[in-house]
Formats: sequence, C-alpha cells, structure tokens
Amino acid sequence: MIQIDFQNVLSGAIGPRNGLDKRFLEGLLKKCQPLVKKVLDSKTKPGYAFLGLPDDTKAIQEMVKSAKREQKRKWQNIVVLGIGGSALGGIALQEALLGANSNLNRSPRLFFVDNVDPDFVNSVFSLIDFRKTLFIVVSKSGGTTEPMALYSIVKKMLIRVEPKHYADHLIFVTDLHSGLLQKIGAKENIRVFGIPSKVGGRFSVLTAAALLPAALVGINIQKLVGGANKMMESIRKGKGIQNPALLLACLQHWMDTEKKKPMVVMMPYGNRLFRIADWYRQLLAESIGKNPKTGPTPINALGTTDQHSQLQLYNEGPDNKWFIFMEALKPGIDQKLGNNLPKEIGFLNGRSLDEILKASLQGTIGSLTKNGRPNITLKLDRISEESVGGLLMLLEFQVALLGLLYKVNAFDQPGVEQSKIITKKILSRKLSF
Ligand code: PA5
Repeated sequence: MIQIDFQNVLSGAIGPRNGLDKRFLEGLLKKCQPLVKKVLDSKTKPGYAFLGLPDDTKAIQEMVKSAKREQKRKWQNIVVLGIGGSALGGIALQEALLGANSNLNRSPRLFFVDNVDPDFVNSVFSLIDFRKTLFIVVSKSGGTTEPMALYSIVKKMLIRVEPKHYADHLIFVTDLHSGLLQKIGAKENIRVFGIPSKVGGRFSVLTAAALLPAALVGINIQKLVGGANKMMESIRKGKGIQNPALLLACLQHWMDTEKKKPMVVMMPYGNRLFRIADWYRQLLAESIGKNPKTGPTPINALGTTDQHSQLQLYNEGPDNKWFIFMEALKPGIDQKLGNNLPKEIGFLNGRSLDEILKASLQGTIGSLTKNGRPNITLKLDRISEESVGGLLMLLEFQVALLGLLYKVNAFDQPGVEQSKIITKKILSRKLSF
C-alpha cells in the first residue's frame, strides 16, 4: 500500500556528510524498536488513544448511518466550522479523495470555514442558501474562539430563515465530557458526535471531526479506517527497516539532531496529496515544538509547481533541510499530449501528464541527491481511501514515536493555549490592543 524509498539518505547515494551507512541505520532502528511497543502499550493513555480509533466500529457505523440519513435530506451544502486539527484533517480528505475544485461539479458541496477573516467567511456564506445547508461545528475543546464566533453568526442566520427548525441544520462534533459545545447541544437539542476525551485535536482525523463530513460527501470511511488498520498491522509486526513508522521517526530524529537538518520539507508530487502535507505540518509542529531546543520546522511544497519557486534554495541554499517526497504510483486520470510540438521540445510529444510529473519528480530527486541533500519518497500504490487512511496513521504513529525520541509530550499544546487565553482576555476587555 505504501512503500518508503530511503536509498537517498544512505551515504552510498549522498556521501558521508549527510548520509547514513545502511548497517548503522539498521543498528539505530534495532535500538529504537522497543519504542514501537511502548507506543502500542500506551493505547489507553491520554493522547495515545488515537491508536484505537480504527477499531471503534460502533462509532464508524454511527457516522455511516447518520450520513445516509442526511443524504436523504438532499443538502446542497455541508459547511464545517472548525480550525486547526478540527479542520485540517477534513480538508486533507476532501482534497485527496475528491480532488481539487470538487465543489464545482458535486453535490452536496463541502466547505471548510477555518478562519474568522470576514472576507473569507463571506466568500463562503454568500455562495450558500442557509435553508439548504447543514453546518457541522467541530471543536475538540468545545470553546475555541473562531468556531464559536462562526457558530454564533450561523445560528443568527438560521433562526432568521428557519426559526422553528434551526437545530436540524446543525451538528456538533466535540468532547462529550467537557467544553461548552456539548452543553449547548444538550440544551438546544442539537445532535452531537463525540471526539474521545483522550484523543487530541490534531490526532482527531479518524474521528467524526473529519470522518463525518467525509461520509456526508460520499467518501467511504469504512475503507479509510480499513487502510489505517492495515497500517497499524504493519507497524505492529514490522521489525527495523520493515517498520515504516519506526523508519520515518528515526530518520526524522537523526537528520535533525545528528545531521543538523532542523527543517523537513514535505513535497507531494500531485495536488491531491498537498493538503495532507498541510495537515502533517500542524501535527509535527505542535506535537514536537516544545522547547527552544526541540522542534523540527515542517515546510510544505508542491511538485512540480514549487520546483519553480523553491528548488533553487533546496539544492544550493543552506544545507539545513531534509526532504520527504510523496507520489501515487498509479494516477487517477491521465491525459496524453498531442504530437504537435516542435522538435526543440519534441521529447514531450506523445507523452502523458503523469509521465511528465513522474519524470519531474525524478529530476528533483536526482538534483538533490547530486547535491548531497537527504531525501526519501513515500510511494502510495494509488490515491484511495485505503492508502490515505494508511498514510494518516503512519504519520500519526511516527509523531507519537518522535515524542519519545525527542523526550517531549507530543500531545499537549501550551503555546497554542497561551494565545487562546490572551485573545479571550482582549475580547473580554481585560486587555487592550
Ligand atoms: O491540536 C490541537 O489541539 C489544536 O491545535 C487544535 O486543533 C486547535 O486549536 C482547535 O482546537 P479545538 O478543536 O479545540 O477547537
């Protein structure tokens, strides 16, 4: 389902300055192998509970059932109000599995409103008929300023158009045991789906936070969690290089701490995978960035687009980055070029777009490798519910391992909370701008 090509982190390919000797890598992985069990054994502890999500068949069935019920109501739009971990997973699923611009030719359309910028909010709200829209308010903590502010506007507008039935247009996804949202839900008779208390916001992609909107627009969430389950199986069984999460975690840690590469560039070749890199950016940054000495900086780039904006820096600029490429081996839809280009560029004649995409990836990898810049490639057989579910679980497991390797709590975010508190104080007029 997903292979990791790590040849270009070996000294044979990029030289000893940045490269690792294969035997040494095997030794490193052997030393770190017990950490996999340590993570697996922590399944019931706060934060680590994301590991059990693919097994929660009851929760998945409930979402599938609810999605079927809602589909009968023929909503024109599904609008998710959430931010950070309460939006990025859903956006990643929409882009990966429905493609960019899917709202132009699909019904219901799915929008994520993950900011309080009035222009942006208006750009979505002015497109929709509130009477034909289902709003899903997602907030793990149930009280974040942005989704609560958006909920307030939506409630006001819904009461205007559907005074008696506004609650039918709302679903909440939140922690069932704490926070304001579940209380409002109970009081106002609004349906509430749970995010388990021990699952953190940025690890919630396999809960209703992202799966419910996905199911509502026809993504097969059972296959998706099936893929996550399969990945868990490989992680449970895999030893050393055969364990994808262990390999990814050890490479990240080693590149950062020993090879002095504090930045990691995730660069999918293909737009569909781009928002997964965005989701991963939050996951890695918030989980591991915990003190002045600890925290790799994740950077996103898109191939081939950013070859023409970033690659100069990556190839010849400061040698402080390592690279994770992603590609789908089989394309969804491909397009053939004509035979109509002049001989100066005749090498393109008769080729397909996917061939050019793949050749460009090889061009980028080739140039970085020549320049001694360490890089790996995550190869998905194709983009499907299964492979995307597997990829998400792989990256979440990697980050849980990284918490142990960097010796930080991967599941809290005091730096984010700090800003939430100051914002609330300003808005309560206890502080001025
Ligand atoms: O990972 C986290 O917990 C945070 O970054 C949250 O995702 C983000 O702040 C949104 O919080 P909430 O889902 O509680 O509204």
